[in-house]
Amino acid sequence: MIELNGTTLAEELYVNLRKRIASLNKTPNLVVVLVGEDAASKIYVKNKQKKAIELGINCEVKTLPNNVTQKELQNLIKILNNNSNVHGILVQLPLPPHLDYTLLIENIALEKDVDGLNSINLGRTIIKGSLKPTHISATAKACMYMLKSLDIDLTSKHVTIVNDSNLVGLPLSGMLLKEGCTVTICNKHTHNLIQHTNVADILVSGTGVAHLIGKQMVKEGAIVLDVGITKLNNKTVGDVDYEEVKNKVYAISPVPGGIGPLTIAMLLENVEEAAKIQNG
Ligand code: GUN
Repeated sequence: MIELNGTTLAEELYVNLRKRIASLNKTPNLVVVLVGEDAASKIYVKNKQKKAIELGINCEVKTLPNNVTQKELQNLIKILNNNSNVHGILVQLPLPPHLDYTLLIENIALEKDVDGLNSINLGRTIIKGSLKPTHISATAKACMYMLKSLDIDLTSKHVTIVNDSNLVGLPLSGMLLKEGCTVTICNKHTHNLIQHTNVADILVSGTGVAHLIGKQMVKEGAIVLDVGITKLNNKTVGDVDYEEVKNKVYAISPVPGGIGPLTIAMLLENVEEAAKIQNG
């Protein structure tokens, strides 16, 4: 069994990324917009900020109260978008239910949309052809990078993704289709999930339901990427029951130490590229 160690892969990427950041003529500047008091979001944002600063990226977190209005947020995004000293804008998700993030993201320039979430970046991630997105979702990139680290031919592999979000399931499915994979996307309405997970050569799960994926739901010799993260009995765990599944699979990413740290590395690469594009 191969353990897909995201921390090691990220550290390898940082060696080069650190040099690229140091050679820029302007320090890259990321602004993270954090709304409300979601405990998990606060931790994610802190982790991103800590790593960004360590690498030589400025990272300012704008914290707004839970009752901020759509208009107030849209104004803030417009101001950040027009500020040439801001290279990347990230609106931490999830937002409180009264806010529509798709409308917000549409006001972010392609170059500053380091989450790859606006309709042009996400659309270009999915559609085939010569138009390339300026940025791709860091989580989807992390999944692709991890798969490529295994040096396997992805053509004709059946991939089941248990996540239909704009950050994970949609961009990842588009990237995998372009590699010639057969892709099944499952969501919370999917009946009989096991019949979809059991046929997967590659299984990606990101629901946040602790240990949703047990041994009986995984095909022998599969590759399993765990994108979920949650607490179970005070322990950080993923969607996959790692101990139960590990002896049945070809490769598996653990939680913690799997997709999470690699996602941060991909985000910071996006910020470096954003700064490079905007400073010529
Ligand atoms: N919430 C959890 N992961 C992410 C991410 O990669 N980007 C944003 N914006 N929100 C998130």
